[in-house]
Parts: sequence; structure tokens; C-alpha cells
Amino acid sequence: MIRLEHIGIAVKDIASGNALFAKLLGEEHYKMEEVASEGVNTSFFRIGESKVELLEATNPDSPIAKFIEKRGEGIHHIAFEVADIYAEMARLQAEGFTLLNAEPKRGADNKLVCFLHPKSANGVLVELCQSIIEDSSI
Ligand code: CO
Repeated sequence: MIRLEHIGIAVKDIASGNALFAKLLGEEHYKMEEVASEGVNTSFFRIGESKVELLEATNPDSPIAKFIEKRGEGIHHIAFEVADIYAEMARLQAEGFTLLNAEPKRGADNKLVCFLHPKSANGVLVELCQSIIEDSSI
């Protein structure tokens, strides 16, 4: 693991979440992005080397809608940046963690991501993420 990349927070309404976190952190969010495949709108705040990611459901079947229904708004996941997501997935699976996706998938913020089941990680939904380096020479 390289560092704590972000903390994901489930919110009912991303506009009011943005306003609240801008007040809390003293700075506006710097971008918003929809991840249609996951049914979420996301918004990002920078905190030093790490970020806060707000997540709002875009449909009732979204994992975020289900999370909020069950547990209310709040911390949803923590994300660690890794250098090689394939290697980390293999290592963690061998260590007994349950991977929620067998292959990395494309997440927000130009990243490959993989989630670990909270039951295998002390109740914490863990996201591994690796930045996708676009080859600008092509
Ligand atoms: Co995340």
C-alpha cells in the first residue's frame, strides 16, 4: 500500500454534501464525476495528500442507495493507493481477504479499483486503487 488515497462518504444529496464539506474543510470540491456503471455521482475534496470522495446514488439499485437504506449516511469505504493492483489483489486473496471483483474495474478519478469484502476486513469496505496512466505519446 502506498498511502491512504481517499475516504468515501455516502450522502443522500451531493449538492448539500458539497456545501457541508466545503464549510467543514474550508475549501470547495474540485471536481464531480458520474460513474454510471456503479450508479453513483461522486465529488472530490483535496486534503493534503488524500481526498474525501462524496458518493450519491443515481438510482435505487445503486450500492450507495442500499448502503444508506441500511445504515444511513456516513463513511462507506476507505481507499488505499497501490502500485500494482493485480499484484496486490493476488497477495490479499492469498492472505484470506475476499475480493468483491475478480478483475479490477474502472472507478472514478481515472482509476482501476477493486473492493475487499468488509466481512474479511474488520467491517471496513476497502478499495484498492491504481491510477491509470494514459500514454500521451500515442
Ligand atoms: Co472510492
